[in-house]
Amino acid sequence: MSGPELSKTIPETRERLQAVRNAGKSIGFVPTMGALHYGHARLIEAARSENDFVAVSIFVNPLQFGPNEDYSRYPRALAADIDLCRSRGADLVFTPSVDDMYPEKQLTFAEVGKVGDNLCGAFRPGHFRGVVTVVLKLLNIVQPDRAYFGEKDIQQLALIRRMARDLALPVRIAGVPTVREPDGLALSSRNRYLSPAERTAATVLYRALLRSRDLAQAGEAGASVIKKEALRVLESEPLGKVQYFDLVDENMQPVDRVTPGIRAAVAVWFGSTRLIDNMELVRIDKDSQ
Ligand code: PAJ
Repeated sequence: MSGPELSKTIPETRERLQAVRNAGKSIGFVPTMGALHYGHARLIEAARSENDFVAVSIFVNPLQFGPNEDYSRYPRALAADIDLCRSRGADLVFTPSVDDMYPEKQLTFAEVGKVGDNLCGAFRPGHFRGVVTVVLKLLNIVQPDRAYFGEKDIQQLALIRRMARDLALPVRIAGVPTVREPDGLALSSRNRYLSPAERTAATVLYRALLRSRDLAQAGEAGASVIKKEALRVLESEPLGKVQYFDLVDENMQPVDRVTPGIRAAVAVWFGSTRLIDNMELVRIDKDSQ
């Protein structure tokens, strides 16, 4: 199988995608920071199944890392990433450099108000501003019909959905369910930082989420009861240090009562590695809407 086309610069990418649009083809877009795993692969597969042409971007965005975060040690694995894109049938891989994306100091930013205030937003100042700004910029470059994001990063997905609505962006934002290891750990480029003992302990996020969902599905609607029980599970794991566990609505606002669509969201430190996960506690019955 021949590999995807590679494109490095913004003008090159615009020109190529303009030709695709001129040919009447629909474009699906998967933005990533590389170090691709099967979670990313599922996004590419979803894009492949719904569009004529699939573009993937690989760009470790400095704007979304805090000064003490892992920008410089973030895993980079371009050759393997391109192989994965090829194996999932991507047509184009866009790999801009920092200078391509930010040739001068960025002065313009996108922000999405309260959706970014809680959960990760409360602990990573500036992070979501960097995320939505780069996503808006990438969407402007690629101009896809559909863009694909993982539910694994639920606050990011909520912010991007809201930005697309608020700014009438001409793109459909698609959410893709979280891909997990057989033991429940959500796939993440950061899992490779975990020591073997931390890797074993890291299933505690999933265990706490499952326990919360079991309680909610057994009829427990009180957020404080569910939170207390989830924290008990999380704190039973001595290698983990809980950053937050919360029940939130679709705008990532804390709730007191569980209703359909409410999610539990959690962040836990293992050494210097921070893991996040989330789960819908009671499904929205789409048929009854
Ligand atoms: P990155 O962490 O590389 O993730 C790229 C996309 O893959 C995101 O939409 C993320 O939610 C999704 N993803 C990661 N792990 C997943 C899993 N286990 N299951 C399903 N989807 C998963 O998220 C980013 O990059 C960046 O913030 C980005 C949006 C590219 C902006 O820089």
